[in-house]
Amino acid sequence: MDDAHAPLAAARVAYDDPGLHERDLAPAPLEQLQRWYDEVSAGGAVAEPNAVVLATVDADGLPDARTVLLKGLAARGLALYTHHTSAKGRQLAATPAAALVLPWHPVQRQVRLRGPVERLPDAEVEAYFASRPWGSRIGAHASAQSEEAAGREQLEEAWARAAARWPEDGSGGAVPVPPSWGGYRVRPVEVEFWVGRASRLHDRLVYLPTAPVTAAGPPALDDAAAWRVVRRQP
Ligand SMILES: Cc1cc2nc3c(=O)[nH]c(=O)nc-3n(C[C@H](O)[C@H](O)[C@H](O)COP(=O)(O)O)c2cc1C
Repeated sequence: MDDAHAPLAAARVAYDDPGLHERDLAPAPLEQLQRWYDEVSAGGAVAEPNAVVLATVDADGLPDARTVLLKGLAARGLALYTHHTSAKGRQLAATPAAALVLPWHPVQRQVRLRGPVERLPDAEVEAYFASRPWGSRIGAHASAQSEEAAGREQLEEAWARAAARWPEDGSGGAVPVPPSWGGYRVRPVEVEFWVGRASRLHDRLVYLPTAPVTAAGPPALDDAAAWRVVRRQP
């Protein structure tokens, strides 16, 4: 404990959730994910319930992690958007697999998922990009995400150039999707629902595929016959 920063070492919350029971789980992980997401969103205690930690691994095997926003939840997987040329994009190109954590601390819940990752089709990317606010679309053009910046001014100048090229009034035409920008779908082979309970006897209920995952990829998240549930020790 020599290196413990005293306030950190003493910080702990006594979890007291009544728990998650096997009998209460949805038959397939998609419905359970949607159920929890809707409950957490409606509760209002978690500021950005779709903020998810995305972990990837670099070419040296060194893990990396950062927060992104979850923008899709469907039978085929979970969608997120970023720059393909960013650090995470390069890591996913070399190792197309990831882990996701939804850390819903204020409600003593956590969801963990991991599995292979695929790029989203262009049509899906274009539809989502078009739905973003103008400033965000311009911002995507202004940033060579993860590259070293000369300074804040360099970024603001790049933003102003893009804003002049595609003004908000539409006179420059629609802001196109930057060539380096796009989306990924994480296709989980494992989905864990965690609830904090008294005395650290937490509930961990994990959906796993009933059959070995083939080259076709993990099963659809809404296929109840393709998933079974195990309880893991906390
Ligand atoms: C709440 C929150 C949401 C974020 N959402 C995204 C996102 O959806 N896409 C994205 O590329 N970066 C997002 N970021 C920024 C990333 O955390 C990260 O700084 C950036 O993607 C660069 O990561 P990389 O250099 O590892 O590729 C978000 C950050 C926070 C704190």
